[in-house]
Amino acid sequence: MTDEISKLKGDALLRIRDAQDESQLEELRIVFLGKKGSVSLKMRSLGKMSNDDKAKLGPVLNALKNDINQSISEKKRELRKQSIDERLKGEWIDVTQPSKERKWGTIHPVSQVTDEVVAIFSSLGFSVAEGPQIESDWYNFDALNIPPEHPARQEFDTFYIAGEQKSDRASNVLRTHTSPVQIRYMESNQMPCRIIAPGRVYRSDYDQTHTPMFHQVEGLAIDKNITMANLKWVLEEFCKAFFELEKVELRFRSSHFPFTEPSAEVDIKCSWDDGKLKVGEGSDWLEILGSGMVHPKVLEASGVDSTEYQGFAFGMGIDRIAMLKYGMPDLRSFFDNDLRWLHHYGFSTIDVPGLHSGISETAIKSTEI
Ligand code: DAH
Repeated sequence: MTDEISKLKGDALLRIRDAQDESQLEELRIVFLGKKGSVSLKMRSLGKMSNDDKAKLGPVLNALKNDINQSISEKKRELRKQSIDERLKGEWIDVTQPSKERKWGTIHPVSQVTDEVVAIFSSLGFSVAEGPQIESDWYNFDALNIPPEHPARQEFDTFYIAGEQKSDRASNVLRTHTSPVQIRYMESNQMPCRIIAPGRVYRSDYDQTHTPMFHQVEGLAIDKNITMANLKWVLEEFCKAFFELEKVELRFRSSHFPFTEPSAEVDIKCSWDDGKLKVGEGSDWLEILGSGMVHPKVLEASGVDSTEYQGFAFGMGIDRIAMLKYGMPDLRSFFDNDLRWLHHYGFSTIDVPGLHSGISETAIKSTEI
């Protein structure tokens, strides 16, 4: 019997050692220690034995049962460790690897420059006003002192929008400038005011410096005692802040706009060296905007008493000053959606223009006009 037991033990331990996984191990437990397992059967046979044999074989069988149990638990632990090791091998990550490249978009120069312009003018006490891009004849022309027969209507290369058939109402237009926002703002707000109105405008024109859709920013300051001197100071402060210069020289050139009297086009001093434009130095001049004192007829058309109030207005091309500041040679590429161009000239999302970025430092020194 003892031979049989030691053979059984050898066989059991060997098979347990060779088990491939936990389910095989469970099968072996049943084969040896289950109700009808070989060890259990042997234990049951103790009942028919003499007391002497019982006393001899009992402890041997108990020890066998314990040995098998122990080697099963050891094997179980070993199998678990093996499977964890294998999983870790498969799931291993090299945390020192560089991360995958992510394609970030960029802020379009027009958006960036618009934000810069808004930041500078708001530090000067101006707020932002808006108007519709589809505009009526009245706001785009008549109220701005451009009657139907006025030659300035031809200069604008207007896009007309077909009106309703049989309607005697004048057709709408895609606004040709941001000036109509002046009228809309004065009509529905109490004076005095200081506003800018940035936005899209449309003209049928296409070459290196013109696109059918472009951007302007309108400025309007109305009060009882505003003069051209205030206009000059505001524009100088704006240019210093925008072009990040200590000093700028502006030239006010007498001009004509139906909606201002007197009117002036404003040039900024610049140089052209090797075909490269530098703003703020040299002996050349570059036109950057149109401006003037708001015509009394425009004030009256907006319901403002021109014997009590007066003020200045200006209109500036946002795309144009973006080209000047950031050196893009062709306006058309602004709107081509070429990713290479957008990545080259676009701005990072964290490059937010504001009172704490360099651009408006000069402008925040004073907020009085
Ligand atoms: N609206 C003019 C244009 O588009 C620009 C302009 C000139 C606006 C003089 C003004 C101004 O407010 O006073 O060409």
